[in-house]
Amino acid sequence: MKNHLGMNDVFLQRFCSPKLRESRVGEFFKDITDKGLFEQIQGRKQIHLEIGCGHGHWLTQYACENPKQVFVGIDLNTKRIEKALSKARKHSTENLFFFKAEAWEFIRLMPSNFMIGNIFIMFPDPWPKKKHHKRRLIQDSFLDLLAEQSSSHSLLFFRTDDLAYFKWSKEKVSTSRNWRLIEKKIPFKHFSYFQDLLPCHQSLTASVKNNFCL
Ligand SMILES: C[S@@+](CC[C@H](N)C(=O)[O-])C[C@H]1O[C@@H](n2cnc3c(N)ncnc32)[C@H](O)[C@@H]1O
Repeated sequence: MKNHLGMNDVFLQRFCSPKLRESRVGEFFKDITDKGLFEQIQGRKQIHLEIGCGHGHWLTQYACENPKQVFVGIDLNTKRIEKALSKARKHSTENLFFFKAEAWEFIRLMPSNFMIGNIFIMFPDPWPKKKHHKRRLIQDSFLDLLAEQSSSHSLLFFRTDDLAYFKWSKEKVSTSRNWRLIEKKIPFKHFSYFQDLLPCHQSLTASVKNNFCL
């Protein structure tokens, strides 16, 4: 059984209060700080974030090719994160971390000495039924939250096989107070797990607006 955050009961029994989940996220950032790998941007440590990373297929390859940057993959699904962690261990990548977390909660709870560099969202759940559109990740308020935790150079890379969700996201980004669509190819040489399974996809890239305001 899952709650509104899509987290299963076992997880919620262990981390039943927002306070416990907050300290869990704090611990995660404390642990990764010890690695001392971070680029400082505007006085904060930078992570590049993949939201809904699944098995970590794509992020593992990408992190191996970019050893000077730090990558974090988050996903709601415990089993997928376990697989991603074992993949990262096999590659012995120092700059790659996976963490079970819900995107809104994780980003809200990021400590203030960290910031997000680039954001990757690939093949997010499209929630096709109208009554479920509110569950889609791309929402005005989510774009605002992402911008709040991002640097002025951050880029958002989004890819989906669902045309309706693509149109929805393009509309949200183009009317966002904090993001603008730009012509820039997604730097993906490798396929994500879902991209390998699906016949086609659409992509968009956005940059943070300089006149950032919330
Ligand atoms: C269709 S899969 C795509 C996985 C991967 N990006 C790929 O392309 O192979 C979508 C993933 O997003 C995760 N997910 C959905 N909503 C999420 C949320 N709010 N926070 C974190 N992960 C989420 C799901 O658990 C699932 O693993």
